[in-house]
Amino acid sequence: MHLTRQEERVFEGESGWAQQISMKILVRLGELFGADKLIPIDSAHVSGVSYKTLSDAPIEFLRSLAESHVKVAVNTTLNPQSLDPSYLPQKLEVKLVNKQWQILKCFDEMGISESLTCTPYYLGKAAEGVHLAWAESSAVVYANSILNQHTNREGGPSALAAAITGKTPNYGIHKPENREAQIRVDVKKLMSSEVDYGVLGACLGKILGDKIPILRGLRGASADQLKQLGAAMASTGMTSLFQRETASPQRKGTCAEKIEIEAPIMAKTAEELSTAPNSEPDLVFVGCPHCSLNEVKMLAQRLEGKKVKRGKEFWVCTSRCVKNLAPEEVRTIEKSGAHVLCDVCTVVSWPEKLGVKTIMTNSAKTAYYAPTLNKVGTALAPLDACVATATGQ
Ligand code: F3S
Repeated sequence: MHLTRQEERVFEGESGWAQQISMKILVRLGELFGADKLIPIDSAHVSGVSYKTLSDAPIEFLRSLAESHVKVAVNTTLNPQSLDPSYLPQKLEVKLVNKQWQILKCFDEMGISESLTCTPYYLGKAAEGVHLAWAESSAVVYANSILNQHTNREGGPSALAAAITGKTPNYGIHKPENREAQIRVDVKKLMSSEVDYGVLGACLGKILGDKIPILRGLRGASADQLKQLGAAMASTGMTSLFQRETASPQRKGTCAEKIEIEAPIMAKTAEELSTAPNSEPDLVFVGCPHCSLNEVKMLAQRLEGKKVKRGKEFWVCTSRCVKNLAPEEVRTIEKSGAHVLCDVCTVVSWPEKLGVKTIMTNSAKTAYYAPTLNKVGTALAPLDACVATATGQ
């Protein structure tokens, strides 16, 4: 892999230990995947922020970076942590809360803003075609497929290394020739709710592995519905980009391989994603990936004048930025007894420590991960059914 003279100097340690280790991570990664050079990035998005998913081992490394006084070189955002400071700390063990604060302090000292959301694409508008180094698979698919920006699926360490150097290795879907569709998918099922899109994504992720599909039959799909599709697809598989036949900016390519997705396989996938369909959920959760402004507004309309049933929790997770844009709607939602939580989601928190046994959600991604990561049963249902279950209306 070619390095400029300046990059070589960083590699040799002339800019200090933190820059050097970051450069070494990127060079190793680039060599592994056949990158020709490093390219500048517009922004980085770092995962591995929640103490629930990170655990103790990497904290020492983060602390060493912070103590070296290194600062990130580009705009860098953070994935959710394990709690919303205004709601959950009182309900969780002090030890867990303190560990989480230690992690955030390290990132803060590196100059990383406490965005704490898996939807960094709602925080600002980057141009089409820019290169990013984003971890968080759902954000990666969204950036590549909906916004036509270019990012590989980074891990937490490589995204942080890219943030510190402002560069990423040029391989994978940074290169236009690797963004061509490889398989045509004809969706034969009539799609309606966001759950249909999530289930389609979960189904496709398993079939595609890491192939790039071009999807037919999704005319009129909204960005929120495609967000569900991409998040689920990246959970059950490794695909980081999908194209749609109706979208013009993406290049379509000609695919020798073709598959059809019919209603029965989607019904089977939906069934697998509901591990406790007949249990009464104690927590209803909406906002995986974090809610858009439009989704917050829709929810406020649905909850207007209703009350969440006694003994049930209703979490609506979004970013601080979106929450601040919708004060009226947030008031309406909270008046119903639901909680608009920021910085967090159920999967990267500890609902099981709060006594939750079953989660109802409209997110196929949460339904996929919660049984393993939260040790709870799941019921996958569209937003209207989630609201009806939570309020009894
Ligand atoms: Fe975001 Fe949590 Fe889902 S981090 S994508 S809301 S699992």
